[in-house]
Amino acid sequence: MHEYFIQNVRFHEDEVVTLKGWVYNLRKSGKIWFLLLRDGTGIIQCVVTKHDCDEASFDLKDVLTQESSVIVTGLVRADDRAEGGYELIAHKVELVSLAQEYPITKKEHGIEFLMDHRHLWLRSRRQHAIMRIRHTIIKSIRTFFDQRDFILVDTPIFQKMATEGTATLFETEYYDDKAYLTQSGQLYAEAAALALGKVYCFGPTFRAEKSKTRRHLTEFWMVEPEMAYYDLEMDMDLAEEMIMYIVAEVLLNRRQELETLERDISKLEAIRTPFPRMHYADAIKLLQEKGEDIPWGDDFGAPHETIIGESHSSPVLVHHYPADIKAFYMKRDAEEPKYALAVDMLAPEGYGEIIGGSQREDDLNVLLERMKAEGMAPENYQWYLDLRRYGSVPHSGFGLGLERTVAWICGLKHIREAIPFPRTMTRLTP
Ligand code: 4AD
Ligand code: MG
Repeated sequence: MHEYFIQNVRFHEDEVVTLKGWVYNLRKSGKIWFLLLRDGTGIIQCVVTKHDCDEASFDLKDVLTQESSVIVTGLVRADDRAEGGYELIAHKVELVSLAQEYPITKKEHGIEFLMDHRHLWLRSRRQHAIMRIRHTIIKSIRTFFDQRDFILVDTPIFQKMATEGTATLFETEYYDDKAYLTQSGQLYAEAAALALGKVYCFGPTFRAEKSKTRRHLTEFWMVEPEMAYYDLEMDMDLAEEMIMYIVAEVLLNRRQELETLERDISKLEAIRTPFPRMHYADAIKLLQEKGEDIPWGDDFGAPHETIIGESHSSPVLVHHYPADIKAFYMKRDAEEPKYALAVDMLAPEGYGEIIGGSQREDDLNVLLERMKAEGMAPENYQWYLDLRRYGSVPHSGFGLGLERTVAWICGLKHIREAIPFPRTMTRLTP
C-alpha cells in the first residue's frame, strides 16, 4: 500500500501523487483557482486550471466549501513562495463529502464559541501545532524513562481512598459501595517501586477543583515516576534531567510548530542545568523582598509562584516546604522536622508549578501518626501501610502535570488549549 502525505511531498518532487484531506481554504480568480488542502500532516496549495485538470474537477470551484473532504491527484512542484516550499498542480479533484456551512470562519471568535466547537476547532493550524507538541512531550517522557530502565505500571482510576486530600475528590457509585476517581497514581506507584525498583505511571487524574483558573483542569494527565532507594536530592536531579530532555526534544522536532504558535523560542533555548534550587524559607524571603505579604508557613498562591519563576530563566526547584501544608505521605527532614522533604518545580515565564514531588515517609509508626493527625482512616490504607511493614526503604517520586507542561512549552495563556477535550468546572462538552 502506498499512501502520500503532505508532510512528505518533498520526497516526491515532480511526481504525481494523490493526497486525501479537507478544504482548508479556497481562492478563485477566473481561469485558475487555489485550494488549500490539509490532511492532518500539513497544508499544501493545489493549483487548479483547465489546462492541467479535467473539466468536472475544475467546475468544483463553484461547489466546494470549507472543510469539504476531497481527494486531489496532481504533480508536486517546488515553489519557494508556497507554504512548505511545494505546491500541487492538480490533475483531478474528487469530492468525497460536501461540508455544510462551517461554523468556524476567518473572523475572530470568542473563546467560549471555540470551546463549544472544540471538536472542529482541532482542525485549525494553531491546534495542530499544540497537539503535535503535546504528542512529542508524551513521547519524550516515555523515551526518557524507557532509556533509564523504568517500568511502566498502570494504576487504577477507581480508588477507595484519597491521595491528595479529600477536598478535591470526585465520588462515584461503585455497585453497593462508593469509589473515587484517582487524584494520583502515587500510592500504587510506591507499591510498584518496592516491587520493581524504578517505575512510572502515566494516566488521567481527576480533581474536583473549586477554583476556575487558567492553570486548573478537573481532568488532567500526570506522569509519576517512583524510585526505591532515592532520596530527595536524587528525585530533584531526575526531575531536572527529565525536563531538560523534554525541552530538547521539542526544540529538535517541533520548531515549526513553535513558530506557528509564535512562541519565543529563545526562552526555551535559554534553559540550562543545573536548575536553581531554593529552600522554601529563602523563597519566602525573596517574596517578602519583592513586597509580598506572605508569612513563613503559608503555601504559595499562583502570583507567588509567578514571581519566583520569573526571577530565573530556567525552572526553579523549591524544596523543604513546611510539613503542615504538604501531604501526609511526605517524609520530614530529620534535622528540622517542621520541614517536609518536598519539592515543587516552578516553570519560568509565570507558568507556576509543573511538578510536585517528595521523599516518602518510610517509617510505619511515623506514617500512622501523620495519618491520624490528618484525620484519615488507616483502615482504608492497610495495603499502603504494608509497604512499610515488609521491606520498607527510602523512596521518592514526583508528578508532572502534562497540560501545565504543554501550556508552558507552547506559551499558551490558558491550560484549556493544552488538552484535546478539556474538562473544567464549567465544561463537560464536547
Ligand atoms: O502537586 P500534585 O498534587 O502532586 C501529586 O499529585 C503527587 N501525588 C505527585 C507525586 O509525587 N507522584 O500534582 C502534581 C502536578 C502539579 O505539579 C501540576 O503540574 C499538576 O499535577 N496538577 C494539575 N494540572 C492541571 N489541573 C489541575 N487541577 C492540577 N492539579 C495538579
Ligand atoms: Mg502540588
